[in-house]
Amino acid sequence: MTRAWQITLADDGPRAELVELDADALRPAIDVPDAAAEVEVAVTWSGLNYKDALAFAGNPGVVRISPLVPGIDVVGTVVSSADPRWAVGDRVLLNGAGAGETRHGGLAERAHLDGGTLVATPSVFTDAQAAGIGTAGFTAMLAVLALERHGATSGDVLVTGASGGLGSFAIALLARAGYTVTAATGRPENDARLRALGAASILDRAELDRPSRALESQRWAGVIDSVGGHPLATALAQVQPFGAVVACGNAASPSLATTVMPFILRGVALLGVNSSLTPLALREQAWQRLAHDLDPAVVDAIAHPVDLDEAADRAADVLAGRVPGRLAVRVAAGGAS
Ligand SMILES: NC(=O)c1ccc[n+]([C@@H]2O[C@H](COP(=O)([O-])OP(=O)(O)OC[C@H]3O[C@@H](n4cnc5c(N)ncnc54)[C@H](OP(=O)(O)O)[C@@H]3O)[C@@H](O)[C@H]2O)c1
Repeated sequence: MTRAWQITLADDGPRAELVELDADALRPAIDVPDAAAEVEVAVTWSGLNYKDALAFAGNPGVVRISPLVPGIDVVGTVVSSADPRWAVGDRVLLNGAGAGETRHGGLAERAHLDGGTLVATPSVFTDAQAAGIGTAGFTAMLAVLALERHGATSGDVLVTGASGGLGSFAIALLARAGYTVTAATGRPENDARLRALGAASILDRAELDRPSRALESQRWAGVIDSVGGHPLATALAQVQPFGAVVACGNAASPSLATTVMPFILRGVALLGVNSSLTPLALREQAWQRLAHDLDPAVVDAIAHPVDLDEAADRAADVLAGRVPGRLAVRVAAGGAS
């Protein structure tokens, strides 16, 4: 038997319970991977991403099977493998690829995963730190790589949703790569924390959260946005010629009311990131770069550990925007931090 969170969508509303399940119940219900690639992992740590918090709230856009074990991040050790790429004892991690949405995820002591989506946990990070980075840090890294691929390799970069998990890691990674970072936040009490991560200046998010003109003063070589809505539209209107905006999230709104002017008069590019569907080669590149660029002490400053049985209560804090940085979940009772 293994402990697992389970979300059930019922007629009288969603139900989140910490239950004891037979290991077989944790095998993927649908979206079954190629049996030849199935890897069983003893999970040590997972995370509480915004998407996981939506799963605890029963959001049907995230909870795609019922019952579902939530947890889009999985970190642990291989206990059996039908995939020749992985052997018993290997330290592995997974971000997304359907985990915690269309198949059971990381908030359980065991996970059955597709070996073709796993990445070797970099030796510089403990399992707690790999989960502390999680999808937020992985996505921030994908966003920095997208700016670099576009050629926006230096200058002033704006990060929105700066106090959140994705925003915090974006600040640290951009500063490490030599950009001058402006952090937009609605929580001035986090200013010192954001400067310590590498922000050169702080912008009140209210300055972006308004209807924008088609074009505004040119301020940014690049933008990493995790909020959408007005702030994204305003940021687009402020990008320098041939700069780029990476749209990662919708914490403010999924809407985007803009004009074509930034694109046709300034040659601005709007780039998308989908961490969950990222192909394996890019996953491996991003994690190698995280291992190279991210000081484990920075991870410890951004991510805070919580125990498995606290996950539902803390998910409500994530949805209410009460968490600075992000939460990593200790799944194995002995999982050292
Ligand atoms: N594309 C992908 O693959 C991918 C991957 C990971 C996450 N995401 C998405 O990215 C977003 C951020 O994820 P996260 O894990 O960093 O979430 P998070 O930790 O909850 O951070 C979100 C941040 O957005 C800001 N915010 C919240 N409500 C806002 C509002 N109404 N207006 C403006 N800003 C607001 C807050 O920052 P301040 O308090 O500093 O203003 C908050 O800390 C979410 O939408 C998530 O679903 C997408």
